[in-house]
Amino acid sequence: MHVDPLERIWMIISVAVLGVFFAALVAGAVVFDVRLPGPVARVDPLDLGNTEFAEPGLRNMGNGEYTAHFIAQMWAFTPTEIEVPVGSHVTFIVTSRDVTHGFLIERHNINFMVIPGQISRQSVTFNEEGVFYIYCNEFCGTQHHVMQGRVIVTGESAIVEEEPVLDEVALVTGE
Ligand code: CUA
Repeated sequence: MHVDPLERIWMIISVAVLGVFFAALVAGAVVFDVRLPGPVARVDPLDLGNTEFAEPGLRNMGNGEYTAHFIAQMWAFTPTEIEVPVGSHVTFIVTSRDVTHGFLIERHNINFMVIPGQISRQSVTFNEEGVFYIYCNEFCGTQHHVMQGRVIVTGESAIVEEEPVLDEVALVTGE
């Protein structure tokens, strides 16, 4: 079969480009740990008071593990902010009470859609002190641009401060 040389070159380029795209996909998943989060469970958005979202907020699971339940609703997150010590591994569990929102934490690998009726869940470790904003990145109405929350990651000093309190309790109960 005769293939024109120019045609052959373009065939090789086409296959090479596909190969580069596939390599980028594999590198993203394996090297950079990029994952597409999917819905993990369903929930009745009109009855959140009788679900695990009845009391949204941070829960300390011990050993540096936390869960953080968030409810997205036009145009705020509940809770507005959470505070964890540096090094914490936090699992975000989020749902919406009304329309589709987004949930993105700046400079961390957290970015998913929040869909009414579904629960989104994703975990990340906070290795750096600072204040990191949570943004809604799905257009959800006229005040979409102000819909944000915060993760405050405190330094080791915050953990040290807690220890004397625990010692006092131990002393009191020890007597
Ligand atoms: Cu919520 Cu945009």
